[in-house]
Amino acid sequence: MAENLIVSTSTDKQERYDSLLPQIEALISYEDNLVANLSNIAAALRYGMNFFWVGFYVVKEAQLVLGPFQGPIACTRIAKGKGVCGTAWSEKRTVLVENVDEFPGHIACSSDSKSEIVLPAFKNEEVALILDVDSDQLNDFDEIDQKNLEKLMRLIEGKL
Ligand code: SME
Repeated sequence: MAENLIVSTSTDKQERYDSLLPQIEALISYEDNLVANLSNIAAALRYGMNFFWVGFYVVKEAQLVLGPFQGPIACTRIAKGKGVCGTAWSEKRTVLVENVDEFPGHIACSSDSKSEIVLPAFKNEEVALILDVDSDQLNDFDEIDQKNLEKLMRLIEGKL
């Protein structure tokens, strides 16, 4: 099948998610390899939502290890409870950071990152991986991102 992404040009963020999420759902429906699916999801989010950095960290024993991503190179390992990603893992919840400089322990992979949202995906009630989205603008994420990206995490859980 041809992999084409239709990128919404709407200025309305919800409309862009409405266009993108069904495409991601279709894209991962015919593939069971996790790396392949996470890679395409990262690219779809990068181009569909124009995110500055978007990628996955996968739980491997006591650490998060960098997975498929789009954007500048990033730190490869994060301990549980450390940074925004490690906090989302240890607290098993979405963490939305309006200003990364005000988040104690934020790990600055890129000095251009200004705000961030991190969401966990669960397998057997434990965090299996997290999605991290960074913006080079302050306060760039809100409850619309949280709601839609949490919906995406539930789609990903269906493939874990
Ligand atoms: N800022 C994250 C680290 C990952 S990078 O942003 C890609 C954190 O504090 O966990």
